[in-house]
Amino acid sequence: AIVYLNGEFIPADKAKVSVYDRGYLLGDGVYEVIPVYAGNAFLLDRHLQRLQNSLDGVRIENPFSDAQWTDIINDLIARNNAGDQSLYLQVTRGVAPRDHIFPIGVAPSVFMMSNPLHPVAESWKTDGIKAITTADIRWMRCDIKATTLLANSLMKQLAQDAGAQEALLLRDNYLTEGSASNAYVVIDGVIFTAPKDEKVLPGITRDLIIELAAQNDMPLHERAVSESAMRNANEIWISSSTKEVVPVTLLDGEIVGTGKPGQVWQQMNVLFQRYKQ
Ligand code: PDD
Repeated sequence: AIVYLNGEFIPADKAKVSVYDRGYLLGDGVYEVIPVYAGNAFLLDRHLQRLQNSLDGVRIENPFSDAQWTDIINDLIARNNAGDQSLYLQVTRGVAPRDHIFPIGVAPSVFMMSNPLHPVAESWKTDGIKAITTADIRWMRCDIKATTLLANSLMKQLAQDAGAQEALLLRDNYLTEGSASNAYVVIDGVIFTAPKDEKVLPGITRDLIIELAAQNDMPLHERAVSESAMRNANEIWISSSTKEVVPVTLLDGEIVGTGKPGQVWQQMNVLFQRYKQ
């Protein structure tokens, strides 16, 4: 694969960064994951706006204009033979002697790669996935898409260890999101998802789901759901750029709703697939 690193398109095995990069030493960086369908970066403008918000949140200056980002991203997609891809980009604060204090006059490091986007297993849509719940152990700026993913990784590994595909996170008895996804609960035909604040990532897929619901008269509230309400829900879903919208049918070993992907999810999935075309 060809990757982009600090101004160059090079083979992945030739791409090297300094051990003093603050991304490596401090997890001091932000990132985006952008799905690419048939060579087109999906909802790219929204990803670039969120990138700007993340950079602002950690006080790293955006190294490129949106037009420059778009050119580099499209170039990288083309060099990786178009098709469906998952494009990863990250900006770290750059290379400097280790210090918690920000360095002065250091250029950010920019890295991008694009890998084949594998659709989720068919069974995820016919049967749904298993999820566990766990305490949301992250910091209070989950709205920043930071590369510092140790908490997310620990929580996702708990799911893996339990034979589940996602961990749903509870903070103060309320569902925030998944370890790598936003979460939705359907109760009596009404969709709920946690509001945008510092406790959740403002997912691009989440925004689209909210818009699709509004355009199609599907009731949806941006309101956090309690643990007990979630456990009695008719449906639970997760969403992300790499997984789209996936139903959860087993939560902590208990059947969700009927135990099959629900009707509201079916409807949203059809709308989502249609929008993608
Ligand atoms: N993660 N919440 C968290 C904690 C996430 O990590 C993600 C995505 C989402 C969904 O956001 P979006 O719809 O914009 O992908 C929500 C990406 C895919 C990742 O880290 O690989």
